Amino acid sequence: MTAEINFLTNDGYDTAIPVHALSTADFKGWLETLDPARSRWVVAHDFKAAKGEILNFSDAEGELAAVVIGLGDNNDFPLEDIWCLAPAARKLPGGIYRLAGGHDPKLTALGWAMAQYKFDRYQKEKNTRKAILCLKDKAALKEAAAIISGITTVRDLVNTPTCDMGPSHLSVVMRELAGQYGGTFTETVGDDLLTMGYNSIHTVGRAATNRPRLLDMTWGRKDAPRLTLVGKGVCFDTGGLDLKPSSGMRLMKKDMGGAAHVLGLAQMIMETKLDVRLRLLIPAVENNISGDAFRPGDIIRTYKGTTVEVDNTDAEGRLVLCDALTLASEDSPDLILDFATLTGAARVAMGPAIVPFFTDGDQVARDLTSCSEKENDPVWRMPLYAPYTPQLKSSCADLNNMGSGPYGGAIMAALFLKHFVETPEKWVHFDVFAWNLNDQPGRPKGGEAMGIRTVFAYLKNNFGK
Ligand code: BES
Ligand code: ZN
Ligand code: ZN
Repeated sequence: MTAEINFLTNDGYDTAIPVHALSTADFKGWLETLDPARSRWVVAHDFKAAKGEILNFSDAEGELAAVVIGLGDNNDFPLEDIWCLAPAARKLPGGIYRLAGGHDPKLTALGWAMAQYKFDRYQKEKNTRKAILCLKDKAALKEAAAIISGITTVRDLVNTPTCDMGPSHLSVVMRELAGQYGGTFTETVGDDLLTMGYNSIHTVGRAATNRPRLLDMTWGRKDAPRLTLVGKGVCFDTGGLDLKPSSGMRLMKKDMGGAAHVLGLAQMIMETKLDVRLRLLIPAVENNISGDAFRPGDIIRTYKGTTVEVDNTDAEGRLVLCDALTLASEDSPDLILDFATLTGAARVAMGPAIVPFFTDGDQVARDLTSCSEKENDPVWRMPLYAPYTPQLKSSCADLNNMGSGPYGGAIMAALFLKHFVETPEKWVHFDVFAWNLNDQPGRPKGGEAMGIRTVFAYLKNNFGK
């Protein structure tokens, strides 16, 4: 699933409609540069460059000749603010635009494009209006286009309802992605999971008609640094027999958000040809109920051999991930990154927009934090606090699938995952929300990619050519 429209171009810079983005401080000086007719037009419309204000100029033929956008009091490199043009990009008429003053900032271009996304697959009325931004810098354009395609993939996958995005559909998505970039794809489906020992994935997914699977893709030069991405692919989370209340279940088509994130990130990596040996692992299941559903109290012999008692069938994400992380560790990659819509507790701690991450690697944590600031894509380190680990003890198995108390749920889940990773200094776990609860400029309500621009910047710094 690639984005067909990127809202960016490299052609027609000279004929593109100039966009003047002005802070209130710049406004006065700019007004003085205008000819009297345009100056009167600005004054007549009471345009003062307040945040979100837009004013159009037409030429003698009545064609749109220039646009002025207010940035408000944002004076510190306002064009480096990723969302500064997003409100306008959504309102402007279709056409090709360029930023006046020779500006060519990548982040602003991303915000411009992301603002125009609309999930219209199931609607008669399609999003046909395209305000396309022209960038001069070809390399910047290529990279921005790859990032936008990746983000669009994430949003589309998360927004697509489970009836069309079950485990079998996720499999098609990964197979097609592998085909598009010359990767190899394999999968283990249904009872074959048991033959291979992926009992945990099978247990969670076995009640669903759409059978559980483990999807596996590799791409890139064999001797390149090894990067393995793991994504939680719970295509719907009813909570299993410890059923979620309807309010908590309503958005659970997004519980494959982690899988969507790693697919989008893989797309960015392959499109920009980062020098990595990439492996993508997605346990794809539906946590549903039937006569064959797993039960509270059941004990699973995981792929690692550790036995896990199921305290709550709603803590299923860590169960499907634990087998995938054990497998990921087998070929000792240089870095394992996992993305998962793992806990409600992560939202209580961070709110919906900040992605908490967990790792024992201090350097990678520092680097991610620094990339996050530059990219304006918030992630925040949380601790793998070892003294909490005993709370995962079970009276009749090696581990319990949740902590004994109500506190620190995101940390407990991360500590559970850590048990299955061979080298936790080379592993980062991201607990993502994958959803915008409200419409904000550049971030429409619905599925959202969170933290992957940060991770992509980190990967580019470390594995870029
Ligand atoms: N998919 C949910 C976590 C979730 C809920 C993410 C809402 C984002 C929004 C996960 O499978 C789950 O249900 N976790 C439980 C764990 C608990 C039973 C230990 C939770 O967080 O309540
Ligand atoms: Zn759950
Ligand atoms: Zn879940």
